[in-house]
Amino acid sequence: MTHARQHLIQVVAHRGASEDAPEHTLAAYKKAVEDGADALECDVRLTADGHLVCVHDRRVNRTSNGRGAVSALELAELAALDFGSWKNREQGPYAEDPDWEEGPAPEDTSVLTLERLLELVAENNASGRRLQLAIETKHPTRWAGQVEERLLHLLKRFGLDAPSPEEPSPVRVMSFSARSLQRVRAASPTLPTVYLMQFVSPRHRDGRLPQGVRIAGPSMRIIRSHPGYVDKLKRAGHQVHVWTVNEPQDVELCARLGVDAIITNRPKQVLSQLGRD
Ligand code: G3P
Ligand code: CA
Repeated sequence: MTHARQHLIQVVAHRGASEDAPEHTLAAYKKAVEDGADALECDVRLTADGHLVCVHDRRVNRTSNGRGAVSALELAELAALDFGSWKNREQGPYAEDPDWEEGPAPEDTSVLTLERLLELVAENNASGRRLQLAIETKHPTRWAGQVEERLLHLLKRFGLDAPSPEEPSPVRVMSFSARSLQRVRAASPTLPTVYLMQFVSPRHRDGRLPQGVRIAGPSMRIIRSHPGYVDKLKRAGHQVHVWTVNEPQDVELCARLGVDAIITNRPKQVLSQLGRD
């Protein structure tokens, strides 16, 4: 592969370095930072007592030793669960990456709050890193604005809710819900937003996105079946962030098409393929 355009591609660790470590745990995000990822991706959900936690599924059953919906559990109940062992059990020892034989520290595999993840980003950026964070609001329509409200409140505490050209944001908000992004922009017009797409609906076929959204987040499946869509989006003035790009041939295609960000479970391998190891 030639590397002519590749230095421009941001490598985003999807749910952390989630191939090597249990997704959405501090261990997975620390591993992604260690691997050299440019950005981290996380999904956020509200707990019963109003905390934003990083969990993908509606229920905790798949990724912890507990059961039940995140929305029905309080943070203290979630904190008592183990979000690490399932991966080892289902996918074998943490040996995908031979440089990471020790696996995750037990204290890094409990439920991760968005607050703690923002601290991790701030700690790294305070020591000279330029780490970014892409936060996805999950099923925000169920909560009538509470997810976004809580998110913006938290971002404000970290001084990240009102970026400017002089002080660009390390944070962007992503969603499959145009309504969720609209709520974010209404409260914080300069915060970058990403419209995620699982398929291309007729109203977005020409490359247009919901009002005010600057970044498109098409699935890799879209890109494979409609490679010309990247160009349409770019001509319409949008950045293109593709998920979830794990296979070398998909990385190659994304690089060839000139996408702006690759969201992957394997940041280390993708960085290496792009000649950045
Ligand atoms: O980065 C976007 C991607 O994460 C959307 O899909 O199901 O992994 O949240 P999902
Ligand atoms: Ca996600």
